[in-house]
Amino acid sequence: MKLLQVDASVLGTNSVSRQLTADIVAEWRRVHPDTTVDYLDLAVDTPNHFDANALGIKVGLQAEPTEAQKRENAVSEKLVSQFLAADVIVVGAPLYNFSIPTQLKAWIDRLAQIGRTFKYTDKGPVGLAGGKTVIVASSRGGIYSTSEGGQAAEHQESYLKVVFGFFGITDVRIVRAEGLAMGEAPKAAAIESARADIRAATAEAANQAVTQLAA
Ligand SMILES: Cc1cc2nc3c(=O)[nH]c(=O)nc-3n(C[C@H](O)[C@H](O)[C@H](O)COP(=O)(O)O)c2cc1C
Repeated sequence: MKLLQVDASVLGTNSVSRQLTADIVAEWRRVHPDTTVDYLDLAVDTPNHFDANALGIKVGLQAEPTEAQKRENAVSEKLVSQFLAADVIVVGAPLYNFSIPTQLKAWIDRLAQIGRTFKYTDKGPVGLAGGKTVIVASSRGGIYSTSEGGQAAEHQESYLKVVFGFFGITDVRIVRAEGLAMGEAPKAAAIESARADIRAATAEAANQAVTQLAA
């Protein structure tokens, strides 16, 4: 089984989502020691914002791609191939300004490719990356999960569920630590609660992934 671990927090060793992705991967490997892990640190290897050069080669704006288009296409190709090769993707997703970090969005913009992760049909869009498991390590300063207003305000977990669903991935699990900016005791309790969720989420996801691999 192949697992891709993706971190995006800019907070380095103070990052909670980085702690959680590491814990999830450790637990996954405990359950499946045969797992190979690929690692992507988007705060270090940040793709450029998706721009006309990244788009150009895809829509064939000109017969011969420019050097800039070739370079950006190589970045997109590397990232989408790495993503498609993984059976399980563990994504560290901090909540920044009610959404995901720009580095994580830049990665998703490189994955969203017609013919690779989705296609359009006469019945609408169809995801092409089904059969994978995604585990999102969600970290948040405030609390959003327990009220309608909070759920409407966050565009992090909700966005990731939509976009991975659009790619055809139905098994998206969330391990959440929220209320991290509400004091030391609530922060410690939130991390503890997330850690407790990891074992259950990982065990369930591992069963699902094995079933999907066997199908
Ligand atoms: C730039 C920035 C923006 C943030 N925006 C929000 C926000 O909109 N809502 C919130 O509840 N917390 C916000 N926070 C707090 C983070 O969600 C919290 O620090 C969390 O631990 C970030 O994950 P990380 O530690 O892995 O980076 C923000 C933090 C930073 C650094």
